[in-house]
Amino acid sequence: MALERTFSIIKPDATRRNLTGAVNSYIEKAGLRIIAQKRILLTKAQAETFYAVHKERPFFGELVEFMISEPIVVQVLQGDDAVAKYREVMGATNPANAAEGTIRKDFALSVGENSAHGSDSLENAAIEIAQFFSGNEIVG
Ligand code: TYD
Repeated sequence: MALERTFSIIKPDATRRNLTGAVNSYIEKAGLRIIAQKRILLTKAQAETFYAVHKERPFFGELVEFMISEPIVVQVLQGDDAVAKYREVMGATNPANAAEGTIRKDFALSVGENSAHGSDSLENAAIEIAQFFSGNEIVG
């Protein structure tokens, strides 16, 4: 197994409900280590850039407005197979399809307000980490 880093966001619906620690406990119980973390308020431009791949989708405007509506917590997670492992811990995008015991099954409110983001590939993880953290903020 490869030691990897992935990028995570605790989304506004979760920070609003004071669930940062609860989400972090799912991450740590899965054997992932939080090696960088900060609470920030995204700008509209940052949210649009982050989700640029979805800019033609009908939900794009709503997604951007949601992501800037409250503070988020951005993180770097490290562990064996961290990218795939965190996708598993998060559960399916739509909480109605998420497996038992996942973050989205237990906390998400809807497909849009789904509590967590995790990178979908190692390549995207590196890009997303670099969007939010400088090297000296990550202590592995
Ligand atoms: P996506 O990259 O498909 O999912 P994931 O977050 O699991 O990698 O979509 C990005 C976000 O866009 C998703 O977390 C929530 C939002 N979204 C909607 O609001 N409606 C939708 O129908 C989809 C597919 C996504």
